[in-house]
Amino acid sequence: MAKKDISLYIHIPFCNSKCNYCAFVSHVGTESEKDSYVKDLIAEIKMRAQEYNQYFSVCSIYIGGGTPSCMNNYAIRDILTCIYKNFNVKNSAEITIEANPNAVTRAKIREYILSGVNRFSVGLQCTNQKVLSSMGRTHTVEDFDNTIENIREQGISNISADIMIGYPGQTLKHVQESVDHLIELKIPHISCYMLQVEEGTKLKALVDNNAAYLITEDKVIAMYNYVLKELKDNGYERYELSNFSKPGFASYHNQVYWNRTDYLGFGVSAHSYVSGVRFSNTDSISEYHRCINELKKPPVASAQELTKQEKKEEAIMLSLRTAKGLDTKAYEAEFGENLIAAKKDKLANLIKNGFLILDKEGILKATDKGYLVLNRLIYEII
Ligand SMILES: C[S@@+](CC[C@H](N)C(=O)[O-])C[C@H]1O[C@@H](n2cnc3c(N)ncnc32)[C@H](O)[C@@H]1O
Ligand code: SF4
Repeated sequence: MAKKDISLYIHIPFCNSKCNYCAFVSHVGTESEKDSYVKDLIAEIKMRAQEYNQYFSVCSIYIGGGTPSCMNNYAIRDILTCIYKNFNVKNSAEITIEANPNAVTRAKIREYILSGVNRFSVGLQCTNQKVLSSMGRTHTVEDFDNTIENIREQGISNISADIMIGYPGQTLKHVQESVDHLIELKIPHISCYMLQVEEGTKLKALVDNNAAYLITEDKVIAMYNYVLKELKDNGYERYELSNFSKPGFASYHNQVYWNRTDYLGFGVSAHSYVSGVRFSNTDSISEYHRCINELKKPPVASAQELTKQEKKEEAIMLSLRTAKGLDTKAYEAEFGENLIAAKKDKLANLIKNGFLILDKEGILKATDKGYLVLNRLIYEII
């Protein structure tokens, strides 16, 4: 039986310090906590491989967090070696690691590359030092530049950088300088995220106490429009709402999430989607440890088999985020429903008002105007 494609995500829940806006499961860990976590991860990978390896070949691996580069020497090598031993990883697999500018040394970059990493994602967020400090970032722009130089010197050109827009105190000029800096550095892949104010973060408390002021929606839209135009003018394609790449540098792994391809997540808070079932691991490191070591069972906290209706909604929601759009013929083949006929009036209205386009091949796409109100647009259709 031919093996199906799958992607793997590894979550590292440690950082050197916690950024003010960040709600990802991560905290400042001790060295022994980190070592113990690697042992648990390796045990989880082996446990899962017994279940899945016979059916799947691995096309991509993404090591994210948290800050994977804050782990002790050889942690990443040991995790990847365990994956290679227990899963069938394709030679062509895209293997990405998130690296923070002041948490990755030349030696660590070398260790990652020798362990098979062939793509780096580095968080810049903004080039303005004041904004960086108010975000709680502990690196400078110079640290970012040095990291990029170190990665390139060791032969890797497949690099992504993250920026954020809409942070309190950030201006359009700061965003312009940040994007122009990345263009000048010829970074081939850029992720640009609009700030989400998340519950439980320092930023949320500052905003609630009127100690930080959110930027108005039209200013955030102006920032996003600048990013879009500047990147398009400089040869980048927007392949998803927040993701831009030079030709050939779109991330395989990112697209897995929007194409609804199977993926398996390891580590605390990691999510998985396999054969129509979504499941997620516990957020608690101690519960994760207990499941693996005492209960000897996968550390899954919740699982849900999607209904046909939920799958249809996900197909619409995820594909409209992408430049490829929603293939209504493939949708009909999968769900036995002609979407154009089923949502005739709604779609006609959205098309007439310039939010959507429908081409001759039956591909439905958001326009630039539609992208700016994507969530509302999807809500309307669903
Ligand atoms: C998984 S995070 C962490 C990556 C890495 N530790 C770092 O800080 O660069 C990936 C990206 O998500 C974005 N991000 C995190 N929290 C966000 C928020 N509340 N709103 C918008 N973007 C956010 C940041 O741009 C960050 O680089
Ligand atoms: S943004 Fe990155 S470095 Fe900052 S706390 Fe979140 S995961 Fe850690």
